[in-house]
Amino acid sequence: SAQLNELAQKAGKKYFGTATDSPELYSHATYFSILTDRKEFGQLTPANGQKWSYIEPQYNVFNYTEGEVVTNIARQNGQMLRCHNLVWHRQLPNWVMTTTSTWDKANMTAMLRQHVYNEASHWKGQCYAWDVVNEGLNKNGTYRDNSIFYQVLGEEYLKIAFEAAALADPSAKLYYNDYGIEAAGPKAEGAKRIVKLIKDAGLRIDGVGLQSHFTVGGTPSIDRQISNMQSFAELGVEVAITELDIRLNLLPPVTAANLAQQKRDYKTTVGACMQVEKCVGVTVWDFYDPSSWVPSVFPEQGAATLYFANFTKHPAYHGVVEAITNK
Ligand code: G3I
Repeated sequence: SAQLNELAQKAGKKYFGTATDSPELYSHATYFSILTDRKEFGQLTPANGQKWSYIEPQYNVFNYTEGEVVTNIARQNGQMLRCHNLVWHRQLPNWVMTTTSTWDKANMTAMLRQHVYNEASHWKGQCYAWDVVNEGLNKNGTYRDNSIFYQVLGEEYLKIAFEAAALADPSAKLYYNDYGIEAAGPKAEGAKRIVKLIKDAGLRIDGVGLQSHFTVGGTPSIDRQISNMQSFAELGVEVAITELDIRLNLLPPVTAANLAQQKRDYKTTVGACMQVEKCVGVTVWDFYDPSSWVPSVFPEQGAATLYFANFTKHPAYHGVVEAITNK
């Protein structure tokens, strides 16, 4: 059987990995053996446990238990880690979300710095990369204004976050991560503006994460994905595909034809990374349909991952193999 990480590394990539947050399945022999097979997945991302609401549920009370569930699995199995995430407008504890009147520039700067510094310090030396700021842009490329950090601090919050992360963990690659930036357009331009903002401030940013939550048939062409990746690389950062999944409409039910299209779309996306030197690796946002976030948000969509509920492989799995092995 094919082994995605082993093949990807042979082809010059740093890893092929997966996100996971299914503690109920860590005692399930099949799920767990796939998850921890370093030949299949050389890298793990905790899908939730490192988010702010778990890490600092109350002001200045830090709890790393949830995040360590997955980071310990990775360590025990010799897998790389992408750490996710330090600053996001979602999954915030209530104390952060209190009315903006609680916050002024001074006290928010202090608490943001402390959060980022403490969390990144906790995993110092263990994360290949940190998603320092996640999803900071609107669709039109302007800064997301429903982020409390932007509301209080403006674009300054990005600099504060990258500065504190660099201070805490000099060896982690520091990433800006978002969806909708996988092909040229206003939002990809916004992400480039962020890269320049951080660099112009004399701070470190090493990468841009292309989440790549696609829909079958709605995946950008390989040429568009390649040229987009190259346009980031030209700014002096690496890129990675950080949250790949490609969802199907479940009504009407899944057919051989749309599974074949899904295979082409996975092959296209992984193939783009394979062709761009500065694309360091691919992470799927879980590998198992029942663990995917998609149906909870899009009730009529799903089957977005590489394995069906009965642990047989989607045709898309073989599309990924073909992309990696250039067939
Ligand atoms: O932890 C609570 C638990 O205490 C509670 O009992 C339960 C009841 O609903 O909810 C649990 O929290 C859920 C959490 O996942 C952990 O299971 C949240 O409700 C649920 O909203 C959350 O969903 C996550 C989502 O981010 C939140 O925005 C998904 O699992 C996760 O896959 C998804 O991941 C995001 C990336 O971080 C960023 N990019 C998009 C991607 C997909 O949405």
